[in-house]
Amino acid sequence: MPGRKLELTVGELAIRAGIAPSAVRFYEEQGLIFSRRTAGNQRRYHRAMLRRVAFVRASQAAGIPLAVIAEVLAELGDHESPSQAMWEAASTRWIADINHRIALLENMRDMIGSCVGCGCLSLGDCHLLNPGDELNKLGPGPRRLMTDD
Ligand code: FES
Repeated sequence: MPGRKLELTVGELAIRAGIAPSAVRFYEEQGLIFSRRTAGNQRRYHRAMLRRVAFVRASQAAGIPLAVIAEVLAELGDHESPSQAMWEAASTRWIADINHRIALLENMRDMIGSCVGCGCLSLGDCHLLNPGDELNKLGPGPRRLMTDD
């Protein structure tokens, strides 16, 4: 398309992607986006990085850690952007991750519910401090004092 720059500066990418220039550099340090250096040692980003940043921001908004996002983006070549199908697959995976976190939080809410009106903070009896009564499964006696680690 005439008039469309194939490469963007840090500032141009930041403005177009709606993030701070420091975030552009941070994403690059994390291996989420890539640049080349000009003869004057300035960074130039391929336009494909715009869609990569959108992928990262949408994934972060879903609470996905950058390391996990980086794993998914590692499937691409350095100058490739995520396809629609790739985002569909990733967002399906993120939904599964969100459902898992919801289940963990619901379980935690239920466990802490038993602390309401209790206040014992007992290492053996409190469901938060001894989930699933793990100490009892280790056998009788003061299990926390009996372990070597
Ligand atoms: S404080 Fe007693 S069960 Fe958690």
